[in-house]
Amino acid sequence: MASEPVVTRSHECTSREPCRLNGFCGRNLSEMADEIVAQHHSYLRRELPRLKQLLDRAVLESGGRGAELRVLKETFDQFFPEVLMHMDREEQILFPLIHELHLAQTQPGVYGGGLDAVMVQLQHDHTLIDSAMTRFRNLTDNYKPAVGACPPYREFVAALPALEAEFGVHTIKEDRYLFPRARACQTALLNSGDSVQPLLGRSLPLRLGNRGLT
Ligand SMILES: [Fe+2]
Ligand SMILES: [Fe+2]
Repeated sequence: MASEPVVTRSHECTSREPCRLNGFCGRNLSEMADEIVAQHHSYLRRELPRLKQLLDRAVLESGGRGAELRVLKETFDQFFPEVLMHMDREEQILFPLIHELHLAQTQPGVYGGGLDAVMVQLQHDHTLIDSAMTRFRNLTDNYKPAVGACPPYREFVAALPALEAEFGVHTIKEDRYLFPRARACQTALLNSGDSVQPLLGRSLPLRLGNRGLT
């Protein structure tokens, strides 16, 4: 049976830069998934509704004037539910698979497979989220609110750099560490000869492929 430390060493801290992730890469798969939910998903579930309220107030206060604000609101109104759905997919589909994968290293037969297709979709979502953040930056001229912008609009724009930075760390943790390590762990499990039975009863409870961010 494959043990996780072997997988861990082969994928750990490949970056030459000092670790900015507070020991994230030293955690096991289950701990990584839990940390992402506790730190990054909870941040987004608090922050995105606040930003939406600010933008709605800005639109009301501006009386619908301002092309930049209108486009920003349209973009955010697509982005907000997509990010929530993305996190639901991770929490309800991917992370339970990752917990199974972690358990399967000591309990053969626990993991039922299915990681790859889900991760491909989620990594595509990451690309779309990144594109949306670039649009926010461009629409606000690098996070500078328009001259004479109302207070809620200024507050919204002022919060965007922190949102972008937070997404950056969140996505690095998933794309650079958690997802590759989970793939490697699955491969090690398959190569070890442990049975990985597809869970035929497993259905994807959330629609994958809503492409509102494109
Ligand atoms: Fe996430
Ligand atoms: Fe993600």
